[in-house]
Amino acid sequence: MIIIELLDAIKQRRSIHRFKEIEVDLAILKKILSYGTYAPTHYMNEPWKIKLYQQEGKRQFISSILASYQRIGMLKTDNNPKTVKMTESMRKFLMKIPHHALIYVEKNEDPVRYEEEYASVCAFIQNAQLAAWQYGVGMLWTITPYMHDSGFLEDIGLDSETFKIAAVMQIGYPEKIPRDKGRTPIEGKLEVISD
Ligand SMILES: Cc1cc2nc3c(=O)[nH]c(=O)nc-3n(C[C@H](O)[C@H](O)[C@H](O)COP(=O)(O)O)c2cc1C
Repeated sequence: MIIIELLDAIKQRRSIHRFKEIEVDLAILKKILSYGTYAPTHYMNEPWKIKLYQQEGKRQFISSILASYQRIGMLKTDNNPKTVKMTESMRKFLMKIPHHALIYVEKNEDPVRYEEEYASVCAFIQNAQLAAWQYGVGMLWTITPYMHDSGFLEDIGLDSETFKIAAVMQIGYPEKIPRDKGRTPIEGKLEVISD
């Protein structure tokens, strides 16, 4: 029975782009993230680290995102009403998302270990997404340019020499569940070598 639910969740989970303006209880979020921690992890090093932004804690985080977008040229910095409007609508959009979980990992000078650790963090994220689905909670896995902006990392209190941001998960109860776009049948990806 549990396995059937898991298999259903794997297929039915969707990336959520629109959230209800309702918070998910912190105890539930902790449970969801705890399922994430059962991801496979080489040497049991559990490389994931998480900063969870919610309520007023989102304000500074989102200002740092917008400042980064301005630094890297994705947002203009002039006082033109169009620019101000665009900046404020982006701020509003991000503020409406109930929770932002920034997932980061310590950099490793050994590229093989680094790859393994990043892979494990991705498994953590997918485990958490599936667990969230069982609780009726949606997520959007995002990778955006500010994650590669060292100024952004410094702004949020992370040493950019030491840490890499793996993803930012947008989290909340789904307002709308997108349709299943389906997947390529496995035969299109699989090469079986039997002798
Ligand atoms: C590493 C990674 C980064 C992603 N980044 C984004 C993103 O920045 N914005 C976005 O809308 N979706 C992002 N997605 C979600 C994909 O668009 C989504 O998984 C895909 O469209 C399939 O939809 P589904 O998850 O509902 O099956 C990302 C997914 C992965 C694995």
